[in-house]
Amino acid sequence: MRGKLFSPASDFSERSIFRSEDVLYIDFLPDVLPHRDGEAHFLAECLRPLLSGRAPTSVFIHGPAGTGKTSVARFVMREMKETTDVPVVYVNCWQNDSRHAVLTTIAYALGSFAPRRGTATDEIFERVLEGMRKRGGKGVVVVLDEIDKLLLNDGSQALYDLTRGAAFSGKVGLVMISNDPYIMRKLDERTRSSLSYQEIEYKPYSFEDLKDIFGERISAAFAEGAAKEGVAGAVARFVKDSGGDVRLGLECLMQAGRLADGAGGQLSPEHVARVAGKIQNSKLKGIIAALQESYLQIVEILSDGKERTTGELLEAYSRRAKADVNERTFRNYLMDLENKSIIESRMSGKGQRGQTRIITLRAAEAVARIIAEIRKQEKEKTGGTRK
Ligand SMILES: Nc1ncnc2c1ncn2[C@@H]1O[C@H](COP(=O)(O)OP(=O)(O)OP(=O)(O)O)[C@@H](O)[C@H]1O
Ligand SMILES: [Mg+2]
Repeated sequence: MRGKLFSPASDFSERSIFRSEDVLYIDFLPDVLPHRDGEAHFLAECLRPLLSGRAPTSVFIHGPAGTGKTSVARFVMREMKETTDVPVVYVNCWQNDSRHAVLTTIAYALGSFAPRRGTATDEIFERVLEGMRKRGGKGVVVVLDEIDKLLLNDGSQALYDLTRGAAFSGKVGLVMISNDPYIMRKLDERTRSSLSYQEIEYKPYSFEDLKDIFGERISAAFAEGAAKEGVAGAVARFVKDSGGDVRLGLECLMQAGRLADGAGGQLSPEHVARVAGKIQNSKLKGIIAALQESYLQIVEILSDGKERTTGELLEAYSRRAKADVNERTFRNYLMDLENKSIIESRMSGKGQRGQTRIITLRAAEAVARIIAEIRKQEKEKTGGTRK
């Protein structure tokens, strides 16, 4: 090997198949969001009254991970910033998980400086009100992304503040976002009755939707002709099979692109398949290793790849666990496993025993290998099983 690995004039960088890698970053906000037109328009319409000083409609957005909730909110915010004078504030409630933190972020954004530590929450609320008054009661959009953690703390009070403060006169457009469709049940009675909102569910993308989404990104990220036909389809298939989070596809495209780039060739569906297998395996390993023993035992039973009815599975599990298991508890276990995309279930056709649910393990071979590894490590470490 000779030197100059990183010199800008090396053949390697000159021949890069990437046009722009940035386009594949998770927090990159694209110019187009295929298949979210309806959702973006809905949000814009709810907030539009603010443009003429009227009260907007607040919105609660929910849906599975990686279905564009944050992106649509950011997209609409960007448009608002560029084309109107309505202030918009984005709060990630995972990072700002208290009334204090949320109000501080809003005070900053409204130009009323509020120190982060040491200032009493009520005083910060005063700053927010001051900021609102300075803006002539024009109103404000507040996006509360990942609102779950906030509502588990004193978030109800923060929402109450924002909806009831006289200076707001109903002109706060709240955009509340969560994976959990039932999270609003955490609101206290007082806040619930003062806060009205429209609800919208972001459905998982179909395979065809995903193909369009990745098609757009491929054209933006790679040089013309650098990606072979079939790449978008291969990424879409991988994402659809892994539970539907678009992020996985972006990560896959980035790694596959680098793989192809290093080899000095075109990006092909084979590169995607290779990287997809690796990503899936490491993701799966993380999920399986974190499972509690009871969940692991259910997965272990299914790891022969055969399908089973809920009844058969419960029976096998009770035998294995050497205990009578409550059917309701067991169904909850299965629901958790399905939400984690580890198992999938469907209703059987109408047979003699009537409708029954059929359970199968996804990626059974890979899971079987991972479990065998976990069990082996357990034996080596403790000589026993986990709690
Ligand atoms: N319709 C779309 N077009 C282009 N890119 C998209 C689309 N939907 C999602 N993405 C991309 O997928 C990634 C995840 O999207 P986003 O962060 O909006 O998901 P989310 O629904 O907020 O997920 P979570 O519930 O995990 O927060 C982002 O990088 C985003 O750019
Ligand atoms: Mg999000």
